[in-house]
Amino acid sequence: MQVTKTVEETRKQIKQWKKEGKTIGLVPTMGFLHEGHASLIRKCREQNDIVVVSDFVNPTQFGPNEDLEAYPRDFERDSKLCESLGADLIFAPSPEDMYHDPHAFVSIDTLSETLCGKTRPIHFKGVCTVVTKLFHIVAPDRAYFGEKDAQQLAIIRKMVKDLNFDIEIVGCPIVREEDGLAKSSRNTYLNDKERQAALCLSRAVKTGKEVIYIGADAKEVLNPMKAIIEAEPLARIDYVMMVDALTMQPIEKADRDVLVAMAVYIGKTRLIDNFSYGV
Ligand code: PAF
Repeated sequence: MQVTKTVEETRKQIKQWKKEGKTIGLVPTMGFLHEGHASLIRKCREQNDIVVVSDFVNPTQFGPNEDLEAYPRDFERDSKLCESLGADLIFAPSPEDMYHDPHAFVSIDTLSETLCGKTRPIHFKGVCTVVTKLFHIVAPDRAYFGEKDAQQLAIIRKMVKDLNFDIEIVGCPIVREEDGLAKSSRNTYLNDKERQAALCLSRAVKTGKEVIYIGADAKEVLNPMKAIIEAEPLARIDYVMMVDALTMQPIEKADRDVLVAMAVYIGKTRLIDNFSYGV
């Protein structure tokens, strides 16, 4: 497995693989890899000749008071995991190599204003920008994203369609701990009590899945979910919403493909979870 640290050396290797007619899959990550990332890398390994993992904590998707500095990093562990999963290359650039000042940005405004975009106004602009850059640098045939970040996945699908990227976007299911908590690099911020409290998210998802039906009112689904979270003293709801799965706009009834998504603070840690429901 190769490790590249610059755009230039990455491009050189990619050109070589393209010349040999190889298909390329990209798994974009911010490192501190867990089983959720591993599932993306495995899927990518199955479907492509070459597997590229990017490992870059992208500064432009963090707001001024967010956890950019504290975000967990362990490149040695990441590279061992990638190697064990059969990745061919990890691209781990420095922020200086990726960004210069002033820098152009890409944003898909319509889908970015609800859910996480409301609390994190610059987040998806940073995500779209770095993903565009990675797509241009790696020129993959396919790119892999987790369904846990469902709004991110919807925005990237829209970006690829609107901006004519010739890349297949593959969404992969949420991977959970045995007790139901969705895997996340941010779970490492939780102390023992918070870790226990964080189970209210997956319990709310389970309840939402049980009560939803075609044509259900949003309140019928969201109220019992909110009640579970509100009963947990360490939890504070950012949002629990039902939205149209394509537009990310709030809806009153589950009468189309919907996303039921939440963000909840457990202490200072903001966690997300969701489920999709189709008609
Ligand atoms: O999902 C993530 O880890 C990040 O948002 C991504 C897609 C790697 C962009 O930095």
